[in-house]
Amino acid sequence: MNQFDFNKVTDRHNTNSIKTDLAIPRGKPEDVLPLWVADMDFPTAPCILEALHKKVDHGIFGYSCIDQNYFEAVKNWMHTEHNFEIEQSWIVTTPGVVFAIACAIKAFTKENEAVIIQTPVYYPFKNMIDLNNRKCVTSSLIEKDGKYQIDFDDFENKIEQNNVRLFILCSPHNPVGRVWTVSELTRLAEICEKHNVIIFADEIHNDFILPGHTHTVFSTISEYAAQNSVVSTSASKTFNLAGLQFSTNFIQNPVLKRKFHIERDKTGYDEPSLMGLVAAQAAYQNGKSWLTALKKHLQENLDFLRSWLKTNLPKVRLIEPEGTFLLWLDFSSYGFDNKTLDDIIVHQAKVWLDRGTMFGFEGENFQRINIATPRPLLQEALERIRNALETV
Ligand SMILES: Cc1ncc(COP(=O)(O)O)c(C=O)c1O
Repeated sequence: MNQFDFNKVTDRHNTNSIKTDLAIPRGKPEDVLPLWVADMDFPTAPCILEALHKKVDHGIFGYSCIDQNYFEAVKNWMHTEHNFEIEQSWIVTTPGVVFAIACAIKAFTKENEAVIIQTPVYYPFKNMIDLNNRKCVTSSLIEKDGKYQIDFDDFENKIEQNNVRLFILCSPHNPVGRVWTVSELTRLAEICEKHNVIIFADEIHNDFILPGHTHTVFSTISEYAAQNSVVSTSASKTFNLAGLQFSTNFIQNPVLKRKFHIERDKTGYDEPSLMGLVAAQAAYQNGKSWLTALKKHLQENLDFLRSWLKTNLPKVRLIEPEGTFLLWLDFSSYGFDNKTLDDIIVHQAKVWLDRGTMFGFEGENFQRINIATPRPLLQEALERIRNALETV
């Protein structure tokens, strides 16, 4: 029996959760079932709660800093989980991975210079590029028989044509669920080396890898990758701590690190969030058994969804994921336009998913569903969608 109960439903309404409490402000029905943003509907690991309670009982929440204990915890985690040997001097903390992306854009590119991303992709990549007045260049991933592939020629041509300076890699990839292989990462690194492109590797989903696949830390790919990348990670996705705003970036090249640090400092951010730090340390030290149980639940949710679709909604195509707890669903065989599909899902089914086109034009007719939820909620969402589709 699972020691942790991931099927228990916890009401998140009126808890300052954007997943539930932004429904009305964002024009969704009051009773919408939200499976959109990538946080989880489970309380975090008991070992993390215990560490946070201890800090609360201490009662002093002054300015904080990372110390040797945190370093040892993250070092061990990266070693045992990702075969990645880190040094303390590589660490730069930020209040999140998206914050780190913004720092990297400002540190490694000038206004109007080009940054490349592989669409469809997590939408804040483009937002950060646009908001910082850089040129967003996209190279579309190509779907072949249910698996997304990199068009390396297109990727390189776009870099050459636009004099791209920075590549934001999503590894594993949200939303298409790819876990990039060593040979794919090697080819990307070689192209970047040829054109002097710096790489920001967003590896926030690194702990969610499905059996048969292996996550490779980008900076371990080659000497160029090691010396020309930022590897950005966080315990926030893995242990459901996004609201605590703490992430850890690894930058091996001291020149890059200094540039990144300056941009971080210019924002006025300095010390890490105390609770974010305490939680991440406890997660890395003692969270493994909870994570193992969580991954079992996620695998069961995936298996459930796959067979449920096959029986009840065979026209909806699941892109088989290799990692992450986000699934990419193709509704194109219904022939709806995007607005109609959205309307059916949000207003008739009353399920809040992420519309595919938020990730790029390639997401037309797709929806992204977050399966990090108790099974009864997942089942209810699927039933609501089926019922709505049956009536149109
Ligand atoms: C690929 C990816 N990067 C970054 C984030 C958010 O990171 P943070 O909350 O640390 O800014 C997410 C959240 O969904 C994500 O999917």
